[in-house]
Amino acid sequence: MIIAIDGEASTGKSTQAKKIAKRLNINYRDSGAYYRAITLYLKRNQINPQETLGKDLFSKIDISQKFKNDSFSIFLNGEDVTSKIRGHKVSVSVSEYAKKPEIRNFVYNLLRKSSKLNSIVVDGRDIGTVVFPDADYKFFLYAIPEIRAQRRHKEINDETVKIESIEREIKERDDIDSTRDIAPLKKAEDAYAIDVSYLAIDQVFEEILEKITI
Ligand code: DC
Repeated sequence: MIIAIDGEASTGKSTQAKKIAKRLNINYRDSGAYYRAITLYLKRNQINPQETLGKDLFSKIDISQKFKNDSFSIFLNGEDVTSKIRGHKVSVSVSEYAKKPEIRNFVYNLLRKSSKLNSIVVDGRDIGTVVFPDADYKFFLYAIPEIRAQRRHKEINDETVKIESIEREIKERDDIDSTRDIAPLKKAEDAYAIDVSYLAIDQVFEEILEKITI
């Protein structure tokens, strides 16, 4: 079984995907975390988004994800980069790197490989449209930007970071993600859309569970 959770930035996709993985006892993959880890690797190696990336480069990048006891971790060449990939530097550049077809193909292969042996829930932007167009269940989460920024601000829990700058970053990222030529952020025709603006986490979860019949 494959479950795709797509949607706009900061709509709680990964929170929902993790809850589903736990409830149904299936695997979880965070596709955005792959793009973030690759961005971290490329930035560390001073490779900018305009450069063409050769095949040999990807053979140097080993990324694995683990979801156990409610806790998600991602490793880049053996280093735990779970917190590092959430930093500001990665967040502001990830969308530029995620436009690149070489990077997208690399991530698609990782995700499709993960789905071969086990049931899986994956969150991202193009999971139901491009990566797994035949997914058994597809969801699309969206919300008004102000509310997404407020939630993200609470989560960051740092008063020196202004809500306005978070809102700007979220909007910029959505704009780049939804207007790119390859695999843009958009709802799959057969996805079930949920406006999460005024719903609590558990309300969204119940709505998703209702649709999934095993
Ligand atoms: O889900 P996230 O915010 O961690 O994702 C970070 C970025 O990665 C997002 O702004 C665009 C890119 N991304 C993508 O292009 N396709 C996906 N399926 C998931 C993420």
